[in-house]
Amino acid sequence: MESRTGVKEPKRPLVWSSSHQKSTLFQSWFQFLLMLSMALFILVYTITDSSLSLWENVSLSQHFQRFFNQTHQVIKPAYRAYPRHRNSVNEITETTKSPTERPVGVQYHNTYPRNYHFIMDNPEACKDKTPFLVLMVPVEPKNVAARNAIRQTWGNESLVQGEVVVTLFMLGLSEGTDLEKIRQENLEHRDLILSDFRDTYLNLTIKTMVIMDWLTTRCSTAAYAMKVDSDLFLNIDNLVLMLQKPDIPKQNYLTGMLMWNRPVVRSKNSKWYVSEESYPEPVYPTYTLGMGYIFSNDLPEKFVEVSKSVKPFNIEDAYIGMCMKKLGLKPTSPPNPSQFRAYNTKYNRCEYSKIITYILGSSKELVDYWTDLKKPGPPC
Ligand SMILES: *[C@@H]1O[C@H](CO)[C@@H](O)[C@H](O)[C@H]1NC(C)=O
Ligand SMILES: *[C@@H]1O[C@H](CO)[C@@H](O)[C@H](O)[C@H]1NC(C)=O
Ligand SMILES: *[C@@H]1O[C@H](CO)[C@@H](O)[C@H](O)[C@H]1NC(C)=O
Ligand SMILES: *[C@@H]1O[C@H](CO)[C@@H](O)[C@H](O)[C@H]1NC(C)=O
Repeated sequence: MESRTGVKEPKRPLVWSSSHQKSTLFQSWFQFLLMLSMALFILVYTITDSSLSLWENVSLSQHFQRFFNQTHQVIKPAYRAYPRHRNSVNEITETTKSPTERPVGVQYHNTYPRNYHFIMDNPEACKDKTPFLVLMVPVEPKNVAARNAIRQTWGNESLVQGEVVVTLFMLGLSEGTDLEKIRQENLEHRDLILSDFRDTYLNLTIKTMVIMDWLTTRCSTAAYAMKVDSDLFLNIDNLVLMLQKPDIPKQNYLTGMLMWNRPVVRSKNSKWYVSEESYPEPVYPTYTLGMGYIFSNDLPEKFVEVSKSVKPFNIEDAYIGMCMKKLGLKPTSPPNPSQFRAYNTKYNRCEYSKIITYILGSSKELVDYWTDLKKPGPPC
């Protein structure tokens, strides 16, 4: 990008003038003046550091902003389902939990998952077997439809390409949650994890960190895990094939759709608003888009530890990016980045046979597309 903005501008007039066949005296003079100003421009450009950075600051930041604003819009509808809340989540709060649980000298805040307690936790999910991959799906308690669609589709595959895969749902508490119903559902499927934090959009960072806590304390033998949203089409075969590649790291590995240099949204009526107080930098560190990211299962424990010293904010995927940064680690690009897609236009069987993720509009789409993809016959 840097070289493009630097080179493109001065070249344009040259192309224009050469297209004129009859070179008059006026044109030669014009060309001369042009060359002179270009030379002057380059001279100023190279000798003064400040003009260079000014140039970069102005043109690059506009360039990036436009690009990011577009990308934001593309990604927006995924989180449509959640109501707008804006209040206390960003504040550091001292817990009222028993003092003996608190490590001395560590600032406790509401993102640290051990402030919360499992009401339902299915520890045997990883005791009876050693999963290659655990899919952890954050979902609202009331969203039974999404859970059932996943249970019929990518969540119903327990052996994928010869590897053991486990799918579990992570729930918090929301007003009007019928705990008895949830218990019944869990008795039937044995796949619900319920923690005692308030399940709201602004608390998604807590939900993610509680997932990390569960993986650390109940499922440490798994090789990989994925945080995967309930509105995702997940081509689980392609995901396992990707993770089976010999050059995929077994430690400190985080991958998905990488987000670079994303500006923090400071507009107060945005859903992604984050105050300067909770996140002072203007840009997030590189992170993986929250729709679905995959990590080696050594990372959850590290995230839980480091979260004690990473100030909380409500953008869960960027928060994981911050934890990575604090750990001195970086997300890795997947072997084939084009397999991670956010918004789809139209279902296409051949295309869906090659990708890993796509965000969908409804549970019905998931069941329909999955059924179609799995029917006999070559997809392409
Ligand atoms: C360019 O931006 C950086 C921070 O991004 C700042 O430190 C620097 O002073 C800016 N340069 C100019 C000339 O504005
Ligand atoms: C991008 O969006 C932000 C608000 O989110 C706005 O302030 C800024 O002007 C936009 N930039 C461009 C280039 O559209
Ligand atoms: C999962 O797949 C098996 C067959 O492999 C099927 O018998 C079962 O009904 C499926 N479960 C759901 C919830 O659709
Ligand atoms: C987040 O969860 C905590 C713990 O349950 C709760 O005290 C807080 O009100 C919740 N915040 C929001 C914004 O829902």
